[in-house]
This record gives sequence, C-alpha cells and structure tokens, in this order.
Amino acid sequence: MEKHQRIVVLDYGSQYTQLLARRVRELGFYSEIITPDDFECDESVKGIILSGGPNSVYDPSSPNISDEVLNSGIPILGVCYGMQLLAHRLGGKVEEGELGEYGGVEVEIIDHSGLFKGIPKKIRTWMSHGDSVRNVPESFKITSKSLNNVIAAMENPKKKIYAVQFHPEVVQTQYGIEIIKNFLELTGMKPNWDLEDYVREKIEEIKAVVGNSKAICAVSGGVDSTVAAVIVNKALGNNLVPVFVNHGLLRLNEEHEVPFALKKLGLNVITVDASKEFLTRLKGVEDPEKKRKIIGETFIRVFEREARKIERLEYLVQGTIYSDVIESGSTGSKNVAKIKSHHNVGGLPEKMDLKIIEPLRELFKDEVRKIGKILNIPDEFLERHPFPGPGLAIRIIGEVNKENLELLKRVDKIFIDLLKEKDLYHKVWQAFTVLLPIKSVGVVGDKRAYENVVALRAVQSSEGMTAEWSNLPYEFLDEVAKKIVGSIKGIGRVVYDITSKPPATIEWE
Ligand code: XMP
Repeated sequence: MEKHQRIVVLDYGSQYTQLLARRVRELGFYSEIITPDDFECDESVKGIILSGGPNSVYDPSSPNISDEVLNSGIPILGVCYGMQLLAHRLGGKVEEGELGEYGGVEVEIIDHSGLFKGIPKKIRTWMSHGDSVRNVPESFKITSKSLNNVIAAMENPKKKIYAVQFHPEVVQTQYGIEIIKNFLELTGMKPNWDLEDYVREKIEEIKAVVGNSKAICAVSGGVDSTVAAVIVNKALGNNLVPVFVNHGLLRLNEEHEVPFALKKLGLNVITVDASKEFLTRLKGVEDPEKKRKIIGETFIRVFEREARKIERLEYLVQGTIYSDVIESGSTGSKNVAKIKSHHNVGGLPEKMDLKIIEPLRELFKDEVRKIGKILNIPDEFLERHPFPGPGLAIRIIGEVNKENLELLKRVDKIFIDLLKEKDLYHKVWQAFTVLLPIKSVGVVGDKRAYENVVALRAVQSSEGMTAEWSNLPYEFLDEVAKKIVGSIKGIGRVVYDITSKPPATIEWE
C-alpha cells in the first residue's frame, strides 16, 4: 500500500496530543501520532507538529528533537513545550518558572502574515506553561504576545518554522482551528482525509489482499467489532465468517439479541454457546487478573475450535482502533504502564498462524462511529456504552458462579433500562452495576435481613483513559435503588460510586 501523505504529531507527553491529531483530521488531512525517538522522516511527511508536554527543556532527560528533523525543511509547528524546544534548540532563550500562565489568557497578534492570517488582533487563548520563551532565536520574529507581556508565538517563514505558546487544539482558544488550518495551508499539502473515501479504499484493499481466501472475526456487538465486520463483509461477503462466542458473562438476554441484530446487518454470524466451559474454568477463581487470563485463554480455545472447521482460512479480522495502538505502545511510546490486562483477541494470530486485517487501525473512536453511520449501522450499535471483553466476570467481585451472574444480570437491567427510560443513557459514557462480596444488615417487614450489596457506577469520559463520576439526579438514583431492593430478592443495599479515574479505575476489578 502506498503511504498516505501525512502530518506527523510528535508526542512530547501532552494530555492534548490526541486532540491535535484529531483537529488535523477534522480539517481533512491525514495525521499520525509518533513518539519523537521513533520518528523517521520520509517523503510522506508534509508537516510536523510538536505537541506540548510536562517537561522543561533544561532537564537533560527531557525529550528532544533530532537535527535531521530540524533541518529537514518540512514545515514545523511547535505547540507549548514544542515552542520552547524549538526556541532552545535554535539558539533562543527559555526561562524557567516565574512567567508561567495557566488557563484563559488574552494575546495580541503582532504579525498577521503567516500563522495568524485572518485572525483578529486580540484573541483569548488557553495556556498551561511554567517555562516561557524569553528570547526568540535569531532570524525569528515575535508574532504574538500575551497581555502579561510573555512571548506567545514566533515564526521563521523562510525556514517554515512556526510556534505558539498556547494550545490552538482546545476549544477554549478562540480561532484555534483557524490557526491550525493556516499551518496546514502553509505546508502546501492537499486535504486527503475523507471517511467515505476511506471506507471505499479499505473495501477495495481487503478484496485485493484476501482474494479468494477466507477470513474469520469475533463479533461481540460492540462498536468496533461490528464496524470492522461490516466493512470486511462488504469486501468478502460470505468469505468472512463472524463468530459470536457466548461466554455467559453478557448482560441479560444479550446472547440472543446480539447475534439477531448482527444478522440483520447482513453478517452470517455463527453463534457458539460456550457459557458452561467458561463458568467451569472460572470456578473458585477470585483474582481479577486470573479471571481475565482464564477468559482470554478460553476465548482463544473456543474460537480456534471454530476456526479449524473453516477451509481456506487465512485471515483474522480485528477491531483494533487507533487509541488501542497508541495505548498498547505500538507507536513506540515507552511509558505505557500495565494497569489491567485488557482482554481482546490478542494472542490469537501467533497460535493460529493467521494474517491480521485491522480495518480500523488508523481511526479514532469518533471516526469509527462516523464510518458506522456511512455503512448504515443503526445507532443501537454505534451509541452503545463500552462493554469489557471479560463482561460481568469483572463486575462480580470474587468468585463468579451461575447464581451471582443471574443476580447481577437482573440488577444491571434495572439500572440500564431506567437510564434509557429517563433519557440519561446517552448522557453518560458508561454505566453498570457491581456485585460486592459483602452482606449488609437490613430490616424487612420487621425482620432482620442480611443480604448482598450492589454498587452503581456511571462515568463521563473520553476514550476511558480518565473519567469523572456522573452527576446523576438524586431522584433518579433513589428510584433505581428502590426498584432494585424492592424487586430483587437477595439485594439489601445499593451504593453509588463517586470516585474518579484516576485514582480509581472505571471497573472495580
Ligand atoms: P478501567 O477499569 O481500566 O476501564 O478504567 C477503562 C475502560 O476499559 C474497559 N475495560 C476492559 N475492556 N477488557 C476490555 O475489553 C478488559 O479486561 C477491560 N477492563 C476494563 C472498561 O469497561 C472501560 O470502558
């Protein structure tokens, strides 16, 4: 495959790095995030954006930029730390501390000829920096200053190097998108990112690569696996075999509803009921990581068994998306700490000797949803809350068995149905219930009761990396709690989890 022309965002560790790449794509230009140490310049690179980051350029261990990139002649835009790095490396002076600016800061544009073409004289920007550029490098001009008299932007049009101290990628910066757009125009690159074209090209590419062989994929009803399967199905028709493994850890009735809905999308789904096998292997297991491991391995076993029945099988389709690639460190990032081992079908290809197709690998989650819409996939798939691969097993603290699974499925249904009924489902990013391994005393009809406790969890998040607990109305929580304890025997108390991530994680296990 010919490489896309691209804008590379070098990641210096800012929380806004992904946002930079997304803004570029929203403007119609293909962009990729790469860690500075792993970046190799080639002809496909038409512009380079240096992200912000938490470091100080004076710290010898702080991430740098290579001479090769600096002298490449490719247009560069430095943002925040990116600007300080450029100033430092090109002979300017960066000052530590003192002149830091945080939050909304007004800046005055001094020169409108390059990056600030068409931008008003004064704009409100979003700043978050401790260090500042004191002197710009020789042959650079100052193009903006903040009202605190701190240098807010500089450029050297001859070298095509531009830099801003503020964050144009966040909505709090007025005209931020226009500033990024101006940079993209200065690169001379033509827009090349259109999701309808992307889908068409992917389908053709998959057809050409797979030819007459067969491909298999696991479908769960989640957004990513559904969109991936539908794209590949358009390319291969019945040569794609979608397999739905019922591990028995799904929500109430989903083992019937999900395959039914997937079939309506034209997928020729094979359903495998392996729920007994999973439960047997989970017997007596309490440790969350062990549960994940068992579920992952059992999944592979079941899936492999199915795959062996298929002749001419050469490919495995996976719904990996760009944030999985970034998170798993496949872009090269070194500092990815393992907090939980997220289970998907990882581990399969080596065992089964299958080649992988990942039609969504370059896409952010919101782009996957947009593609889903292009493919006419109904909202019930595209707007579903994320659901973890190990399912309810990590929402039952302690051992998973048939009884507590049944209990949790019914509790979960009450919470989710009420969220939908009250029009709150789409206002939270993810919501679920957790069965706790403790009993609590109550009084029911003048008698002492001693029953289970469940926790409700609802969070706001983007991509699940960080999360805030959702501020659901008290009346709503009251109604959910009353309905759960009133209608489900065995649950005596309901609590609401008000912890954010970090320090907690979204799931309890
Ligand atoms: P945590 O609990 O890590 O969750 O804050 C972040 C997001 O990931 C989901 N999650 C998982 N998904 N396998 C998955 O496929 C897993 O083992 C797993 N653990 C957590 C979680 O539901 C949330 O959306």
